[in-house]
Amino acid sequence: MIGKLNHVAIAVPDLEAASKIYRETLGAEVSAPIDIAEHGVTTIFVNLPNTKIELLHPFGEKSPIAGFLEKNPSGGVHHICFEVKDILEARDHLVKSGARVIGDGNPKIGAHGKPVLFLHPKDFCGTLVEIEQE
Ligand code: CO
Repeated sequence: MIGKLNHVAIAVPDLEAASKIYRETLGAEVSAPIDIAEHGVTTIFVNLPNTKIELLHPFGEKSPIAGFLEKNPSGGVHHICFEVKDILEARDHLVKSGARVIGDGNPKIGAHGKPVLFLHPKDFCGTLVEIEQE
């Protein structure tokens, strides 16, 4: 059911430092920081030949990643995102399989303008999983 790995999201306490690590130490192509107010994050996109890394930093008061950074002060992998052909079909299959979808179960528009859902980390080996419509 899942297709390509769309991105790996890494929460970071210092965006400038993280950008430098990916740009200079790892020699990757790195975007400028982009504030995504509706998701409460500032994101830097790291474009790799086969996928993306998204460096996430809290934006605004009620950022969904603020708590994660409190628990992981030096940062860490926050979620991974897989592409699916049909997000509603994928959701129905997941729910039928006993997986928990976070929120009300209806896809929201994600950082790339496509419908996304998040799945409970306890059902996926301790990893928060995002699925995104292809
Ligand atoms: Co994501």
